[in-house]
Amino acid sequence: MKKRVYIKTFGCQMNENDSEKVLILLKEEYVPTDNPEEADLIIVNTCSVREKPQHKVYSEVGRYKPLKKKKKHLLIGIIGCVAQQEGENLIKKLPYVDFVLGTQSFYQIKEVITKLQKDPKPIVLTELTNEFKPPLVLPEETLSKNTEKVTAFVTIMQGCDNFCSYCIVPYVRGRETSRPPEEIIEEIKRLVELGVREVTLLGQNVNSYGLKEKGYPDFPELLNQIAAIEDLWRIRFTTSHPKDLSEKLIRTMAENPKICHHIHLPLQAGSNRILKRMNRKYTKEEYLEKVAKLRELIPDIAITTDIIVGFPGETEEDFEETLEMLKTVRYHEIFSFKYSDRPFTTAKNFEDKIPEEEKEIRLKLVQELQKTITQEIYQQYVGKEMEVLVEGFSSKSKTQLMGRTSTNVIVNFYSPRLDLKGRLVKVRIEEAGKHSLKGRYLEILK
Ligand code: SAH
Ligand code: SF4
Ligand code: F3S
Repeated sequence: MKKRVYIKTFGCQMNENDSEKVLILLKEEYVPTDNPEEADLIIVNTCSVREKPQHKVYSEVGRYKPLKKKKKHLLIGIIGCVAQQEGENLIKKLPYVDFVLGTQSFYQIKEVITKLQKDPKPIVLTELTNEFKPPLVLPEETLSKNTEKVTAFVTIMQGCDNFCSYCIVPYVRGRETSRPPEEIIEEIKRLVELGVREVTLLGQNVNSYGLKEKGYPDFPELLNQIAAIEDLWRIRFTTSHPKDLSEKLIRTMAENPKICHHIHLPLQAGSNRILKRMNRKYTKEEYLEKVAKLRELIPDIAITTDIIVGFPGETEEDFEETLEMLKTVRYHEIFSFKYSDRPFTTAKNFEDKIPEEEKEIRLKLVQELQKTITQEIYQQYVGKEMEVLVEGFSSKSKTQLMGRTSTNVIVNFYSPRLDLKGRLVKVRIEEAGKHSLKGRYLEILK
């Protein structure tokens, strides 16, 4: 009988994708389980983008310590960004942990486990290189069977070269490297064979895909190559750095019907002074020009963003400019965070830190404002007929189906037929909720 592996994933989609790859790499020896109590191997995939998720790692791993007493052969490992950041330190703090694998070493997991089965000495691998290292791991039918996904993530780049002054990612994910285009295409073709109809391409800054590598397509060209894959209906991508958002990309999005009408374009802050201190390399005016171009060529495009409040030195006036930007751009949704000091970053050493209470107030203000804007935007969908790719049942009820519009808004809808997973349907939107729309099925399109 195969052994069982439990994997807990924190952080971004990139980590989720890495966790899936780990399960595929382990498939000959381990089957996934949702219950850590019955696992023979427990893996925690970690995030260190802010202090809070980093702290969670210790409490999460600590929960499994008692299991080790009950089950002698149980192995516990930490992978992901905190593993990369802390390396040996994790073993010092958590001596019962068997292995720590960094962001470019996780794919060695099989060999690491074989080694540990022979010799229980903890293994730490945290080397970072300038090559795209992960081997081609093709998605497996056996693993996706019970979930039978309609949408999937595909990593197209690793690392980041931007060094925004607040951000730890370049230190824990290494230099920006693009994955060979043939591998990307091969993986997507396999996903499509398994029933996937929509892919989201992942990278910290997808707009600079292929620019460092000789003979690679650039990002718009890659999108066109992917769009040529038959039976793939929709393409999304994240994240786009505003400084690298080219007119070529906007035109490609406008011209290629498979590319969804949504872009995540992190603004971070509305004041040019703060943007400069963040090392974002664009001004508010340049950002707005790109937004105008996007809306000129793709009038119904949905724009979402990330905002950091309380960056060191952010005055009330600076913060007001962030609020103004939200009112001007009118994002569909935002992800907002209180600034958090991170190791290695330059902002950590800035002196004029904003008190926690003030950050809290600013976060609330941003979120309140956005709530109203999102609701107004969602209200405009009411009465419209939208194309929705059905992902499955709605999370709340098995009598409703759930899917997304091209603009990435979740739609829950009633339908006389419930066997529509993986189909593209037309839905009439009847009601706008806080985070989703409600509608009624009209017809199957594909
Ligand atoms: N590469 C992506 C995002 C990476 S991290 C990009 O450039 O947009 C995701 C988000 O976390 C960032 O956009 C930022 O808003 C937030 N973030 C990163 N470091 C942070 C920090 N030190 N404190 C608070 N938020 C942070
Ligand atoms: Fe971090 Fe900036 Fe790179 Fe995004 S672009 S991962 S925020 S350094
Ligand atoms: Fe977190 Fe690493 Fe992603 S720090 S946000 S898991 S790149």
